[in-house]
Amino acid sequence: MTFQVRSAAMAALLLGVSAGAVQAEMAAPTAPPEPPKFEAQTEPVYVNRSDIFEFKALPAYSEPAWVTAFVDAGKLPPVAERLPKEPLIYKAANMPDGPGVYGDVMRHVIGGRPEGWNFWAGQSYGWGGIDIGLVECLTRTGPLFTVNSEDLQPLPNLAKSWEWSEDGKTLTIKLIEGAKWSDGDAFDVEDIEFYWNDVIMDENVTPLMGASPATYNNATFAVVDPYTFTLTFPDAFPEQVLYAMAYGNFCPGPAHVLKPKHPKHGGESYETFLNAFPSDFMNFPTMGAWVVVEHRPDDIVVKRRNPYYWKVDETGQQLPYLDEMHFRLSTWGDRDVQAVAGTGDFSNLEQPENYVESLKKAADPASPARLAFGPRSIGYQLFFNQSANGWGEPDARGQAVRELNRNLDFRKAVTYAMDRQRLGDSLVKGPFTAPYAGGLLTSTSFYDAGSTVFYSFDEASAKGALEAAGLSDTDGNGVVNVAGGEDLTVTLLVNSDYATDGNLAEGVVAMMSDVGIKVTLNSLTGKDFDNARDAGAWDWLVLRNNQEYVSAVQGTANLAPIGPMTAVWHRANGAGEMDLQPYEQQLVDAIKAFIGTRDPAARIEAMKTWQKTFTENVTAVGLTSYPGALIINKRFANIPAGAPIFMYNWAEDNIIRERVFVPADQQIGAELHPQTLPGAPGSAGPIAAN
Ligand code: GLA
Repeated sequence: MTFQVRSAAMAALLLGVSAGAVQAEMAAPTAPPEPPKFEAQTEPVYVNRSDIFEFKALPAYSEPAWVTAFVDAGKLPPVAERLPKEPLIYKAANMPDGPGVYGDVMRHVIGGRPEGWNFWAGQSYGWGGIDIGLVECLTRTGPLFTVNSEDLQPLPNLAKSWEWSEDGKTLTIKLIEGAKWSDGDAFDVEDIEFYWNDVIMDENVTPLMGASPATYNNATFAVVDPYTFTLTFPDAFPEQVLYAMAYGNFCPGPAHVLKPKHPKHGGESYETFLNAFPSDFMNFPTMGAWVVVEHRPDDIVVKRRNPYYWKVDETGQQLPYLDEMHFRLSTWGDRDVQAVAGTGDFSNLEQPENYVESLKKAADPASPARLAFGPRSIGYQLFFNQSANGWGEPDARGQAVRELNRNLDFRKAVTYAMDRQRLGDSLVKGPFTAPYAGGLLTSTSFYDAGSTVFYSFDEASAKGALEAAGLSDTDGNGVVNVAGGEDLTVTLLVNSDYATDGNLAEGVVAMMSDVGIKVTLNSLTGKDFDNARDAGAWDWLVLRNNQEYVSAVQGTANLAPIGPMTAVWHRANGAGEMDLQPYEQQLVDAIKAFIGTRDPAARIEAMKTWQKTFTENVTAVGLTSYPGALIINKRFANIPAGAPIFMYNWAEDNIIRERVFVPADQQIGAELHPQTLPGAPGSAGPIAAN
C-alpha cells in the first residue's frame, strides 16, 4: 500500500472514532471481585537476611573424597585455594534439615532447548533452571519470600556488600574477593567492566533478559580496585537498582572467554560474538554450582559440580551437595507428569490443566513426590501493541490496529468482552483461578484493591465501546468493519510451548468473535516466540506475567516504557523514538517515582498511582490468575517451607538449590558421569581424576 492510501485509511479510521463516540452505552467499571480463598499449604519461616548466610573464613574446608582424588592427581589445587578468602557460608540453623551429605542428582524435565551459552548476547539456555544453576548475579532475590518485611532488601551474592554516598548518588559495590570461575580464572572487576561497557552500554548487544542503561537509572560506571566499583546516578538513593542486580540482569559472564570474541576487543562481528559458544560447546565457565558437561540435542543436558564454587556450609563442606543435575529436553507438561510419577524430581505445577490429575496422584501416601501449593502468583494478561511509530514495522492493516490499540474505547471493548470466569474454568474447575483485573496480582504486597479498576464482563458494554471506537458491523457478516469497510482482523501472538497459553488464546478468540472482532492466532515456540514478542511483530499478545507483576520490586523497570525497551507492550522504533500516550507517560512517572525514592510511604503511593493508571486505562487486559504448586521428590532435604513456585524468582532459585541434598540411604545412583568434573572450556565432556 502506498503512503497516501495508508494515511487516508488512517484518517478515515480516526474520523470514525469521533463520530461513534456519541451514542455508546457502557457499564461503569467496578472494584475487582474478591478472589476465591485459596490458602497456601505451608507458610515460610520468616527470618532476617543475616540469619541465612554470612561471608567468613573457616579454619578448614572439605569436599567429596572423589574430588580430593583430582587434587592428589595434580589436576586441581586444594579446596582451600579454590575458595575465596571469605566464602559465602550458609548457617546451619537456617537449613531446614541441617548440613547435608554429598551425592545424587536432581532430574529436571524442561520444555525449552539451549540455543547456545552466550546469555549476554541474548541466547536462551532453555529455562527450567538451567540458567539459574549456571549464572550467579551480584544480588539475589529468590529466597526473599522467607525474609521479614522490615529487613526486605536483596541478598548479597557476588556483591558482598554495598554502601551509598552521603548524597545518595553514588553506590559503591564490593565484590567477593578471590572467587574463581569454574575453570579457575579469577572473578573480579574485569568481569563487571566487560558486562557494563560491552553488554549493557553496547547498543548492538542485548542480553537475554534485556538489561539496558534504563535498568540501572542511566548510571555512570567506574572501577575503584580489582574488587570494587561505583555506579553514580542522576538522582539520590535509587535503591531499586539493587533488585535489578539480581537474576537475570546483573549476572556477569566470564570476560576472559567472552571478551576476545566481542567486536570491540578484536572479535570479528556481533554475529560471530553471538554464536561463539554454540550449544555443543561444553564446559562453558560459570560462577554457578554446576557446569554443563554434556548436551544431547532433544534428549538431555547434564551438569557436574563446579569444583571452584564459592559457597560452603558451616562445617566447611564446599557446596553444592548434589553432584549432578539433569535436564531432560521434553515438554513443560511432561515435567508435571514425570515429577508426580517419580521419573523426574522437580516441577513448577503451573498449567492448571494438569492440576486435578497431579493432585490425585500426589494425594496417595505412596506417591514419590510432595506437592505444595503457594500463593496465587501466576497471572496472564493480554497486551495491546501500543507503538504507532513503527516498532515491529506493521503493514497498513497492522498500523490501523495499532491506532485502535491506542484508543481507550477499543481497549475497553476488549476488556468488557472478556468472560474471565469462563476463561479460568476452561483451564480447571474449582477455587484455583480468579478473574484478574490486570496490573499487580492480588498476592503482591503492593497490591491495593482500592486502586484497581475492573471492567466486568458485559457484552453490551463491549459493543457500545466498539461503537465508540468507530467500529460497527456495516456489512452484517458478524465482524465489525473498520471505517474503510474491511473486516477488522487482529493477530494474537501466543507461546505454544505451554498448553495453558494456547487454551487462553483460544478462549480470547472465541470471546472476541462473540462481539465481532476477528482474531487469528500466531502460535510460535521457544525463541521464535521471544523474537516476535521483542521485535514488536504482533497486534495483541497473550503473556504469562514476569516477576514485576507479582513482586513489584523485581523487574520494576518493565512496568512502564521508561526506556526504549523496558515495557513489553511499547518499545522504541528503529530510530530509537517512543510515541508515548499521556497515560503511558503517567505510568512512566509513577515508576520513576517508585524507583527514585526509598521512603516506604512514597513507594506505596507511587504503586497505587501506577495500578490505578494501568487498570483504568486497560493497559493490558487481565485474564486469569491462580496459584502454582511446587512438586519435588520426597528424597530431597533442605527444601524451605512455603517456597512459592514464583515470586521474586522461580522456585529453582527460591529453594536455594546449592544447599539441597539427599540423605545417603535415599540416593538413587542415577549419575551419568559419576566421579568426574568439568573439563577445560570447549573440550568434550567431563574428566576423571586418572
Ligand atoms: C520456565 C518454566 C517455569 C520455570 C522457569 C525457570 O519459564 O515455565 O516454571 O521453570 O522456566 O526459568
